[in-house]
Amino acid sequence: MQEILAELERRRAGARLGGGERRIGAQHSKGKLTARERLEVLLDEGSFEEFDMFVEHRCIDFGMEKTTIPGDGVVTGHGTIDGRPVFVFSQDFTVFGGSLSEAHAEKICKVMDMAMRVGAPIIGINDSGGARIQEGVASLAGYADVFQRNVNASGVVPQISMIMGPCAGGAVYSPAMTDFIFMVKDSSYMFVTGPDVVKTVTHEEVTAEDLGGAVTHTTRSGVADLAFENDVEAMLELRRFFGFLPLSNREKAPRRETTDPIDRRVDSLDSLVPPNPNKPYDMKELVTKIVDEGEFFELMPGHAANIIVGFARMNGQTVGIVANQPMVLAGCLDIDSAKKAGRFVRFCDCFEIPIVTFVDVPGFLPGTGQEYGGIIKHGAKLLYAYAQATVPKVTVITRKAYGGAYVVMASKHLRGDINYAWPTAEIAVMGPKGAVEIIFRQDLGDAEKIEARTEEYRTKFANPFVAGSRGFVDDVIMPHNTRWRICQALDLLKNKRIEEPWKKHDNIPL
Ligand code: HXC
Repeated sequence: MQEILAELERRRAGARLGGGERRIGAQHSKGKLTARERLEVLLDEGSFEEFDMFVEHRCIDFGMEKTTIPGDGVVTGHGTIDGRPVFVFSQDFTVFGGSLSEAHAEKICKVMDMAMRVGAPIIGINDSGGARIQEGVASLAGYADVFQRNVNASGVVPQISMIMGPCAGGAVYSPAMTDFIFMVKDSSYMFVTGPDVVKTVTHEEVTAEDLGGAVTHTTRSGVADLAFENDVEAMLELRRFFGFLPLSNREKAPRRETTDPIDRRVDSLDSLVPPNPNKPYDMKELVTKIVDEGEFFELMPGHAANIIVGFARMNGQTVGIVANQPMVLAGCLDIDSAKKAGRFVRFCDCFEIPIVTFVDVPGFLPGTGQEYGGIIKHGAKLLYAYAQATVPKVTVITRKAYGGAYVVMASKHLRGDINYAWPTAEIAVMGPKGAVEIIFRQDLGDAEKIEARTEEYRTKFANPFVAGSRGFVDDVIMPHNTRWRICQALDLLKNKRIEEPWKKHDNIPL
């Protein structure tokens, strides 16, 4: 008997060693943790239960029958983060470069299926050379099986992808279909085709880092949500992020007790908006000053910074924050910001997270770049997402709310539940100067007349009271009371229900 028990321990130890000491050393020398070390940092101590530790690949080509490694390059199972369940897979680069075989894919699919069944999020840690080349089409089929599950799980359980090494070819499409992608600086990259293929086809010379590193994807492309400095920071921040999310679409996000009084006055907000309407101010200051304990988990800060998105808590409850940022492009909506915020709004709606929107938007960004790039379709994504969202929607207009952008930003007209304006709000079709130049074009030569007309327009429309007189804003509130008013509004809306007509699914402009 003792012998049999020892055999189990021996097998487990073998599996834990993955590709062996040499390859583990190589992983460490790149500044990376191993698949198992990452899970140790991510999950509560002692909570991890591993599945399929003894699964091996079934390939008999290219001498593969002589090299089987238990676990086959991916560590799968479940554990807890702050006591809440989560399913995980963590690719082991020390085993065939973490490449995905048929058996490796089956392991991932198994935890995805279980996550769906029990209603718990899935975290995938990607560190892989892509499809297991020796297995050919069988590994491609394995990817397809994972993709299908990503789609099935979308909107049912949160899915988070950590990119912590190479992620190339078809391998990028599983993360692309998950809700959030986090990368690690200098050690992770994602691309459909690598630098060598790029060089052959387009004659461009580009490094892997420039083509698909963490900086590229968190600034230029917007593919990834955040980039962390190293593996440990990535895992610790992921734990914090996890605390904002519900386990599934059947549950609400966890409530966290707060000592921050909901009626806390923030007097400095009374002077946040500068007297000059063309002067920017930092919208992030407003966000951090009114949320619980000033804790704001911002996503995509380096991409489309003209809009701010992220999670915070109000009176202990998770909220999704969307806010125009006057410091960047004057807070205009453009292609990238509409895509960024549109997807975020849809995530919040999938998982019953109320949305708080702060508006200071002079309009959509004009220009050929935007029009040729399809701002019409892309801008419509945000409009569509807000209009479709049935979660509680609370909106505060701090300053400009002009034209189509006013309508888009969770206005009353798109089923905004509670819409407030600060006394500094200006709600109109466009700014006074632009408006006068169009409706009084005949007076353009007469500076004095134009000045008078502009002033007349400003007095009439550059305030919240015209919209207030139509009921398009529910109240004009004192900036220092913003936290209190939003907390009350969210409390009022906590049992909000909207019945939608039956349809198979919608057809959002893609
Ligand atoms: C099998 C692989 C592998 C793969 C790496 N290895 N990728 N084995 N299939 N796809 C093995 C290597 O043979 C090596 O084994 C070990 O992993 C580490 O690889 P190295 O090359 O030594 O590491 P490094 O120098 O860090 O380079 C990592 C790499 C490179 C950039 C990922 O290995 C690479 O380019 N791999 C191939 C990438 C690729 O083209 N994949 C297919 C993509 S197409 P030893 O025994 O020496 O340790 C695809 C289609 C999916 O994925 C479609 C889905 C629809």
